[in-house]
Amino acid sequence: MEKTSRQKIIAYYTAVAKKNKLLKYPTLAGMFVTLIFYYVGMHFMTNGKRYASMLFVAVFFMSSCSFSFAVFAERTGFTGAQETYSAIVETSDISLAEVEPVNPVVEEILEEGNVIVSEHDEEAETYTLDDLLAHHEHDHGTRSNDNYTEPGADTEFTFDSSDWRLALINKQHPIADDYDFKLGTFTSGMRCDERVIEDLLLMMQAAKKDGLNLVVRSPYRTSDHQEDNFNDRIKSYMRQGLSYMEAYKATSIVITVPGCSEHEVGLAFDITSDSFIELKQGFADTEEGKWLEEHSYEYGFILRYPSGKEYITGIEYEPWHFRYVGREAASAMKKEDLCLEEFWDKYL
Ligand code: DAL
Ligand code: ZN
Repeated sequence: MEKTSRQKIIAYYTAVAKKNKLLKYPTLAGMFVTLIFYYVGMHFMTNGKRYASMLFVAVFFMSSCSFSFAVFAERTGFTGAQETYSAIVETSDISLAEVEPVNPVVEEILEEGNVIVSEHDEEAETYTLDDLLAHHEHDHGTRSNDNYTEPGADTEFTFDSSDWRLALINKQHPIADDYDFKLGTFTSGMRCDERVIEDLLLMMQAAKKDGLNLVVRSPYRTSDHQEDNFNDRIKSYMRQGLSYMEAYKATSIVITVPGCSEHEVGLAFDITSDSFIELKQGFADTEEGKWLEEHSYEYGFILRYPSGKEYITGIEYEPWHFRYVGREAASAMKKEDLCLEEFWDKYL
């Protein structure tokens, strides 16, 4: 009589086990697994509808998993784990020297536009104090920080979440559609929220008194400008061989996702000095970098992306990026070593 498949499987494994006693148990395990596959397979083979629906569920599950992961990674810029973040930071440090694109798809993307190969070509404009004061000639030299009083150790801070100075803008909190502000434009071309101008000038003048020449670059940016910066950086990384997702992640920890940058509301300034123009972490070790870290809060500014809080801000250490929050909030953050996200958690 013709043997059934089940009998054939058992006979095969029994023969192998008999031939080689040492393989007895592995062979039995193999037989067990094969039989399971056989029964499951037979079950589905004889039930077409169930087979199709299982397949559908499996495909749906797999595609929705990869979709949500991609969206999550795109929104946050990294997976949330500190290790992953560090790995991305390392990736973002790769040199921007041109290398051959790795595949035709990348090449096609690169052909769409100009790739920025020098890190901050897009932010070439710089503004010295003199450039800015030319606009405000009438009260040159009359500013003072007299309205600033250092809060005492027992000062109880209270804040209002609707205060424009405290707006939390990051990858998780995009700029609200109805966010409204008035742009102040200097004759030199610099633009920012006009309510910040006086304190910015005060801070730059105070630094000058201490013999330091601060230089503002990339103040207000339009959303289109932010988007261009973002996309150019992605292309630049892809040109070096990163996949789109890798390039996206690496980019989103140095440039905020369009629609989520404080530069787009004129409250952020990248500030360096006339002797260290570049937006590089080495700025922290210059006299100007140290002065800003120490004194910017007295004028209502905070170093927005501090070292050691990257896992909270989602942005690499940027010793040049200063955000206006007003003197009280800046004092509280400085005294308590809080970044803006932590400040919101605690006070708002
Ligand atoms: N470089 C900062 C994070 C920005 O793009 O807003
Ligand atoms: Zn910046």
